[in-house]
Amino acid sequence: MCGIIGVAGASEHGAAPPLLDGLEYLTYRGYDSCGIATLANGRVERRRAAGRVANLQAVLKDAPMAGDTGIAHTRWATHGVPNETNAHPHGNAEVAIVHNGIVENFSSLRAELTDAGHEFETDTDSEAIAHLIVFHLRRGLTPEAAADAAFARLRGAFAVAAIVARAPGRIFVVRHGCPLTIGIGEHQTWVGSDALALAPFTDRIIHLDEGDRATVTAAGASVRAVDGQPVERPTVTSSIVPTAFGKGGYRHYMQKEIHEQPIVIGDALRALLDTRAMRAEAPDLPFRFADIDRLILVGCGTSFYAAGVARHWFEELAQLPVDVDISSEFQDRAPLFGPAGRSAAILISQSGETADTLAALRQLRAQRVPTVALVNMTSSTMANEADAVVAIHAGSEISVASTKAFTAQLATLACLALAAGRARGKLDSEHEARLAAELTAVPAKMADILAAQNRLQDVASDLIRAPSVLYLGRGPAASVAREGALKMKEISYIHAEAYPMGELKHGPLALIDEHVPTVGIVPSDPLFTKNASNLAEVNARNGPIILVSDDNGISELGETARHTIKVPHSDPFVAPLLYAVPLQLLAYHAAVLKGTDVDNPRNLAKTVTVS
Ligand code: G6P
Repeated sequence: MCGIIGVAGASEHGAAPPLLDGLEYLTYRGYDSCGIATLANGRVERRRAAGRVANLQAVLKDAPMAGDTGIAHTRWATHGVPNETNAHPHGNAEVAIVHNGIVENFSSLRAELTDAGHEFETDTDSEAIAHLIVFHLRRGLTPEAAADAAFARLRGAFAVAAIVARAPGRIFVVRHGCPLTIGIGEHQTWVGSDALALAPFTDRIIHLDEGDRATVTAAGASVRAVDGQPVERPTVTSSIVPTAFGKGGYRHYMQKEIHEQPIVIGDALRALLDTRAMRAEAPDLPFRFADIDRLILVGCGTSFYAAGVARHWFEELAQLPVDVDISSEFQDRAPLFGPAGRSAAILISQSGETADTLAALRQLRAQRVPTVALVNMTSSTMANEADAVVAIHAGSEISVASTKAFTAQLATLACLALAAGRARGKLDSEHEARLAAELTAVPAKMADILAAQNRLQDVASDLIRAPSVLYLGRGPAASVAREGALKMKEISYIHAEAYPMGELKHGPLALIDEHVPTVGIVPSDPLFTKNASNLAEVNARNGPIILVSDDNGISELGETARHTIKVPHSDPFVAPLLYAVPLQLLAYHAAVLKGTDVDNPRNLAKTVTVS
């Protein structure tokens, strides 16, 4: 979603070059336009462009920008189409602002300011913020007071950075419902939408609290709480490694991140698995698995599909009833939590900032349900607000389409399910040791799958001609199928739909003909026979089958498939981690063949910070 980067007191080359670099890094969040504003010679300069950062670079080449203090933004359109006019920064020669989030009362602010003589140029909600600051400056307030007065009028969720011509060397910021981070450099101070955005510049980070405002200069930041009183916020050292940003010889971040999975899964397992005792180490949790009779798993997108897989593990291994919810749906209904202390929730989120999952977390906390944030970004808002944090150790994930975070979520949830099974007396140590050994074998098996990737280009070249692709799986594989279909549609723009295998006859079979391929996710497990008869129904209707299975499955069903994709044999417990990988590769190769912008698919954002 929109990204903010700002700097006060840049080097002798001025603010624009590092801000352009910062925008390049921010593209991992997803965007459709971008822009920069600097303070130079007593006025605000702005340059903006629709589309990619390269377009803005071209603008700056023709019209360079002076000034050592500036703010920049990647916009993901919510109000108003993604064109140059609607791109941030908004403002005029006096003021410029960049904004993440949504200003809910923008219509009334716009009407009020228009009555006061302000002329709006854009269709955005954000422009009202710039006019509000101008309004208060004209009332005679100091730049800092004008910014604070403007911020106080805003309703909704927002993070804002503003520069004012009359305040050289200063950036005014507010955090309210959207994250904002300050980075302390050697001779300059940075402002960013998150610690990841600042990683190339500094690892010394100040996380603002909800409602905080700050005035940022080259010397540091003075922070005020929502009541205007000065407050100290600690400077912490971020563990995000900036070298993780390089593509490391890969063509795309997504490809790199797919290939990182053997290492990432090793890291995720090491955090929770005692490989000598072959048992899961339960992390510190705000509840005991033995005391609860319901576990609530909540997430969006890929994180929701990880929850769908994990449900099977908790139910089967720990005999613990599980509710799985999409965050946005969870907030909009009236979920029942049963007797106090008998339910607990795990909020699953790579970023820890997704607006709907954060809202679900707050709703659960308000109902006194103990909450765990299962996140990749451990300095995120969810990590700060939940009763406990469990890290998935996936490292920085830059590509908008999530890959290694999904399998790291699965590895972490699998360990929690083992711990839950033991704690509830449903999993004996021998069984646990066997499953733990299966988990430790996953990285090597993933590496084998990755080594076979070239064959998948042939399969992908078949798929890109299809009007639609159907993904089918049963049990945990139904959620893996949904994740596979999501990957395909989000980066290749090929329509892909996933169904639980058993639902085939209740609708999707009508779609099948010789043009609509079916990807069957069919490990040779106790569900195999049922799956085989479903795939026979597809075959009987001339539907091309892409069979994803192990040796046994392929020798039984391979003849009826147009393509087979072999996955190493494993216990059904770990199959979801393995079967996810070829589906990621299939989507990746389809997208490359179609020539789409793999890491930044159109209309999508890495972190969705608005509801
Ligand atoms: C966006 C991203 C997805 C991600 C989802 C949830 O839609 O494009 O890749 O799965 O948000 O994000 P989270 O950070 O909460 O896991």
